[in-house]
Amino acid sequence: MTTNISVLVSGRGSNFQSILDAAAEGLIKDVNFACVISDKKEAKALERARDNNIEAVFVDPKSFSSRAEFDREVIRILKEHDTDLVLLAGYMRIITEELVDAYAGKIMNIHPALLPAFKGLHAQKQALDYGVKVAGCTVHFVEADLDAGPIIIQRTVPVLPGDTEDSLADRILVEEHKAYPEAVRLFAEGKLEIRGRNVIIKEWWKKIAGRKSGKKTADSW
Ligand code: GAR
Repeated sequence: MTTNISVLVSGRGSNFQSILDAAAEGLIKDVNFACVISDKKEAKALERARDNNIEAVFVDPKSFSSRAEFDREVIRILKEHDTDLVLLAGYMRIITEELVDAYAGKIMNIHPALLPAFKGLHAQKQALDYGVKVAGCTVHFVEADLDAGPIIIQRTVPVLPGDTEDSLADRILVEEHKAYPEAVRLFAEGKLEIRGRNVIIKEWWKKIAGRKSGKKTADSW
């Protein structure tokens, strides 16, 4: 079955591009990019969508009296496009509970930190200022709180002497571009299951746990 993906963006869209590339290379199968929605008119991500013949929609926050009204319009567009999976990819708005509920277990976000540390803006600077030795990125399912929800994938990078916010952000971004396509692939293949705070990745379980016991099979699920 094809997974209809809609992407919410605010800026550059390099994560969105990494997912497009992975799909074009056949690494993610059976997905369709339904639409890209931005709250910023000039977002480069909208241009990337148009370049790939994907519907690009700018929703102007100024046209709505509240966050709730804005998100209702977003929900309307998502539904209009038969969305199965919503990706927040550099989307710099806090989404309402109504939107989270409309797509419960079907909204993912990527954040440039090892959550639950360093939520919010300038996560890489927060990590540097704190003095951590390891940083990274997190792909997670979205709950109503900021940068919160069951974790799907995390990837780490070292923090090196002399790092600046930019150099650390660049190192983390390389890992983001691996983590997000991988999470989307797992979702599209039906391999993710949310159990409370945990996301079970059925593939790992089969390959690693299954191999160890020598007994588990795909049917164990
Ligand atoms: C990425 O680093 C992403 O992790 C971050 O914004 C950047 C967007 O880049 N997201 C957040 O900080 C969300 N809290 P992109 O537009 O090139 O994908």
